[in-house]
Amino acid sequence: MDKRYTLKIDRIVEETSDIKTFTFKHDLTAKPGQFIMLTDFEGGEKPFSISECSDEKFSITVKRIGEFTTRLFQKCIGDYVSIRGAYGSSFFISKNKVLLVGGGYAIPTFYFFAKVLLGAGADVTLINGARTKSEHVFADRFHELNIKVINTTDDGSFGEKGTAIEIAKKIISQEKFDFIYASGPEMMMKAMQNALQDQDRVQDQEQGLDYEFLFERYMKCAIGICGNCTMDPLGLRLCVEGPVLPKCKVEQLTEFGKYHRDASGKRHEF
Ligand SMILES: Cc1cc2nc3c(=O)[nH]c(=O)nc-3n(C[C@H](O)[C@H](O)[C@H](O)COP(=O)(O)OP(=O)(O)OC[C@H]3O[C@@H](n4cnc5c(N)ncnc54)[C@H](O)[C@@H]3O)c2cc1C
Ligand code: FES
Repeated sequence: MDKRYTLKIDRIVEETSDIKTFTFKHDLTAKPGQFIMLTDFEGGEKPFSISECSDEKFSITVKRIGEFTTRLFQKCIGDYVSIRGAYGSSFFISKNKVLLVGGGYAIPTFYFFAKVLLGAGADVTLINGARTKSEHVFADRFHELNIKVINTTDDGSFGEKGTAIEIAKKIISQEKFDFIYASGPEMMMKAMQNALQDQDRVQDQEQGLDYEFLFERYMKCAIGICGNCTMDPLGLRLCVEGPVLPKCKVEQLTEFGKYHRDASGKRHEF
């Protein structure tokens, strides 16, 4: 088991009524796409992606969903939590023209990633989607990065009207990208894969558009022991070989977009 660190919450930013960013002073050696395991000492340990990371501090951006995240939302600056990690695979760093597509609380991990891509000299376009304006996050921060940003909401209350995938479909039919990255709910990524395959057929491309997706599945140990996060038929452990998977692996996953497992390992259809 990797070393644990007990850390004081250094900063809390309320992004929306249900999303908060927690910052810690800690030299976390992490790459974009990786995650940490966090416990508040009161029960349970949960995975969270890294939304910002520098030599002296890192952040996670959390959506309040259930018991654990509700407890986390009650924490104040100066309260303690314990973390281990960073764990998992990270995004390929392209130096070319790239498109990032994400939605909701899954978008902040692209903030950390976009900064690294810019440092590598990539030409970055981001589609930042949410259901509605009050759930849209990080618009200002991405704007400050000086990348091309397309904000979208399903109901048109902020940015372009439509889902991130509908807008992505339009963009990839108009512009050529060297690499595409997606992060969000699994059915959103399934729709993204379908859109990319449709575009490959239209362009009659032999190789097709290259991509990586960040998957979120139920994780317990995060170090490849319990097997709770494996995906059929490859037996890929998403906490070790993922959560970022390349196109060649994603294409082989028979359970992608069909079913997922809960804490007991029982399958549930999407
Ligand atoms: C690699 C990875 C990165 C993630 N990054 C983020 C992030 O940046 N921000 C964020 O808000 N959330 C993130 N999540 C999801 C986060 O772990 C869950 O939202 C959280 O665990 C919910 O706990 P809860 O007790 O509040 O809710 P619960 O009521 O226990 O669960 C609500 C839902 O959260 C998911 N969940 C619960 N426990 C786990 C678990 N141990 N592993 C994975 N999913 C779980 C399940 O879909 C479940 O149905 C990530 C998950 C993974 C696997
Ligand atoms: S969470 Fe235990 S093997 Fe991945």
